[in-house]
Amino acid sequence: MKLLTRFNLIFLVVFGIGTALAIWLAGIFLQNDAKQRVLEQAKLMMESTLATRQYTTEQIKPLLEKVQKHDAVFLPQTVPAYSATQVFAYLHGRNPDYSYKEATLNPTNPVDRASDWEADIVNTFRNDPTRKEIISERATPTGQSLFLAHPLHVTSAACLECHSTPDKAPAAMIRQYGSDNGFGWKPGEIIGAQIVSVPASVPIEIAKRAQRELALYLVAVALLGLLILDGVLIATVIRPVAKLSRAADEISHGNLDVEDLPVKGKDEISMLAMSFNRMQRSLGRAMKMLEGDDGPAA
Ligand code: HEC
Repeated sequence: MKLLTRFNLIFLVVFGIGTALAIWLAGIFLQNDAKQRVLEQAKLMMESTLATRQYTTEQIKPLLEKVQKHDAVFLPQTVPAYSATQVFAYLHGRNPDYSYKEATLNPTNPVDRASDWEADIVNTFRNDPTRKEIISERATPTGQSLFLAHPLHVTSAACLECHSTPDKAPAAMIRQYGSDNGFGWKPGEIIGAQIVSVPASVPIEIAKRAQRELALYLVAVALLGLLILDGVLIATVIRPVAKLSRAADEISHGNLDVEDLPVKGKDEISMLAMSFNRMQRSLGRAMKMLEGDDGPAA
């Protein structure tokens, strides 16, 4: 096997293993990173619903209450939870992977009722009020789902107007929602959980895309490295050795007039070329001496 082929095989094995290892490690890192980024995004969306709640309580409700009293109709736009879910619905339109629920044990609107697994989360928060966040995965019929949950508190006395007893709530609200659900909440009580869910395939896809791109770059860099190494190898080893071998071949066939090999630098190949040149000259002198000795004897 030629030297260059042999070196290339070694390079390919080494670069191949190195690149594969780097891609595999990067895969683990990218997957964790993508999951983190998706959760950060979910957290930001959740924060935006909290901000919307506050905006509704502090600015929209006082404004709309005047209209509401005048018209005697209940405007859900005065309800913090309503504005939060509406804003999230718009967010969901732009980011369809993310879904949101204000899972509540005793909700005003039945669509907010916590399902079994959501009730488990709410109860976990209720049993341990120091717990501020649950991040986990669960199996769904459409695949694994990643979710982020925060507890929902009855944050202020203003909430109790509509969530303590039906007689305190606006009559128009009772007409619309009835007086059976969403009451009896206590100040500071954890009554539910905000839950943002994302299919677990979303971060996996993000990571895979990044990994494919990285793999492409790494292979390109490895190939470029291989080309550069080949170039250096040819210039510093293969070509000088080939010249040496050609010269040795000429001499072995009796041609002692081959030109001196070029000696550049002080590396092993140059030393070899220098020794070779010296050997060739010694051989030449020896041959001449032999020829000289032969002369008179003939
Ligand atoms: C003006 C009356 C009103 C006030 C004040 C109010 N809510 Fe509500 N709340 C409602 C109504 C009505 C709904 C149902 C909205 C819907 O149709 O989604 C609701 C829904 C909710 C929900 C979703 C679960 C459910 O019951 O359907 C949560 C959580 C909630 N409110 C918490 C609060 C908190 C916390 C406050 C205080 C910051 C508050 N609410 C203040 C009337 C009110």
